[in-house]
Amino acid sequence: MTPANGSILEARDLCLRFGAVEALRSVSLAVQAGSIHALIGPNGAGKSSLLNCLSGFYRPWSGAVLFQDEDISTARPPMRSTLGIGRTFQGIQTYPSMTARDNILTGFHSRMSGGVFAALFRTPALIRQEEAFTARAEEIIAFLELEQDRHRVVGDMSYGLRKRVDLGRALATDPKILIMDEPMAGMSPEEKGDLARFILDIRDHFGIPVVLVEHDMDVVMDISDRVTVLEFGEVIAEGPPERIADDERVITAYLGAAEVAV
Ligand SMILES: Nc1ncnc2c1ncn2[C@@H]1O[C@H](COP(=O)(O)OP(=O)(O)OP(=O)(O)O)[C@@H](O)[C@H]1O
Ligand SMILES: [Mg+2]
Repeated sequence: MTPANGSILEARDLCLRFGAVEALRSVSLAVQAGSIHALIGPNGAGKSSLLNCLSGFYRPWSGAVLFQDEDISTARPPMRSTLGIGRTFQGIQTYPSMTARDNILTGFHSRMSGGVFAALFRTPALIRQEEAFTARAEEIIAFLELEQDRHRVVGDMSYGLRKRVDLGRALATDPKILIMDEPMAGMSPEEKGDLARFILDIRDHFGIPVVLVEHDMDVVMDISDRVTVLEFGEVIAEGPPERIADDERVITAYLGAAEVAV
């Protein structure tokens, strides 16, 4: 169910401290259903901290996180994942010695039911569930154009492909929203283009909104519906990308006039 104001995930007045560092200062964010919401800002601005508060890895000192209008501030990461908040992390999170397909299948583990008895005696219900997950994994493999690579060991793959496998693992958790921390960092322009296309397809074909941290301004301007800019733990601008590109405070604080000549 989508709340009346259209936002699926909301942060309200989040404050977070690490010793003397104020990582987040009264940060609010509202992700609209069916949108791609980019989070930008200089290194150390608080972007990952905010994503970690949304997915439950960090507990803010004050403020609230709402998902589909429910206050989930006290829910732990596995519960948030079960509710439908999927995520990928900064860097590589795949299992290098496993194949692409098996990595994607790990995403289904949190959704397995039946417990030890079902696992030991391989009940018909468990077998049916495994078949359904395997079929869904094949759909994800086709969607991400990983057919040629499904049986390859992930450790042998290029960085871009491994990130794609990680995205497949996140999709296998059946998310209602996907949170991605710098998914394109370290990618070649071609790999970035591919991933940008998949992110747009995730929004358009699956209707899954995406929150992503991204440093490449061309990508942000191309694919996002809304942009939030953080600096020193504070939101300094929020709006559609074309407005952000013209925002004086953003230009001075972060982008540099040359870079926003889009
Ligand atoms: N677990 C932690 N322990 C201590 N300090 C932290 C922790 N996580 C973040 N910080 C601090 O909080 C501030 C915000 O960090 P954060 O990682 O959220 O920034 P970021 O915007 O994601 O930066 P980057 O672009 O470099 O990834 C920084 O000063 C960082 O050092
Ligand atoms: Mg970060």
